[in-house]
Amino acid sequence: MNIENHGRDAANGALELIASRSSVKKFAEQAPSRAQIETLLAAATRAPDHGRLAPWRFAVLQGPARDILSKAMQAAFGERNPTADAEAVEREGSKAFRSPVLIVVSAVTQEHPKVPEVEQLVAVGAAIQNLWTAAQALGLGCAWKTGSHAYSDHVLQALGCAANEKIIGFVHVGVPVMLAPVRPAEYADKTRWL
Ligand SMILES: Cc1cc2nc3c(=O)[nH]c(=O)nc-3n(C[C@H](O)[C@H](O)[C@H](O)COP(=O)(O)O)c2cc1C
Repeated sequence: MNIENHGRDAANGALELIASRSSVKKFAEQAPSRAQIETLLAAATRAPDHGRLAPWRFAVLQGPARDILSKAMQAAFGERNPTADAEAVEREGSKAFRSPVLIVVSAVTQEHPKVPEVEQLVAVGAAIQNLWTAAQALGLGCAWKTGSHAYSDHVLQALGCAANEKIIGFVHVGVPVMLAPVRPAEYADKTRWL
């Protein structure tokens, strides 16, 4: 194999994945395999990580296990909206079933003399981005959600999160049936060239 071509093809492939990324609006029912999910988790942990603190944690929910999150979302929603009708509560719970697999990515940060919390949180964001790009490379797609449920004690407890654990994203994963339009890459008015 020509190594130079291999490098160029790999670069083109990576740039193409990044340029074409958009959120999945609708997922197929078919679930990614265990091996695919493990590939995504491994990719996530390849994110830059100041101090090698590995601040990321993953909870993989698939099939009926999504009900754990669904029930917690319903409880949180019901508490915030005590007059909500059963249909609204039901709809809230259905968010856990948007995709066949849901990877809840959270952060456990620590006091560190050189690595402030923000850097540890950003590393977890980078892990999610890696996971997403890896998913695209496997023909899968993602949708990254938070909303009030990410900050709900009901949800944190139901997922077995530690006291100092923060949810950074509910990352829905699966085969895309419908994708959001790709946003143009606009950086000119966000960039200072010095
Ligand atoms: C930390 C974080 C939290 C997000 N939470 C939500 C959310 O709760 N609901 C939502 O619709 N989009 C959320 N998004 C944005 C979407 O994931 C998506 O990236 C955005 O709508 C742009 O669309 P695109 O991914 O197709 O470019 C979140 C993104 C980030 C980075």
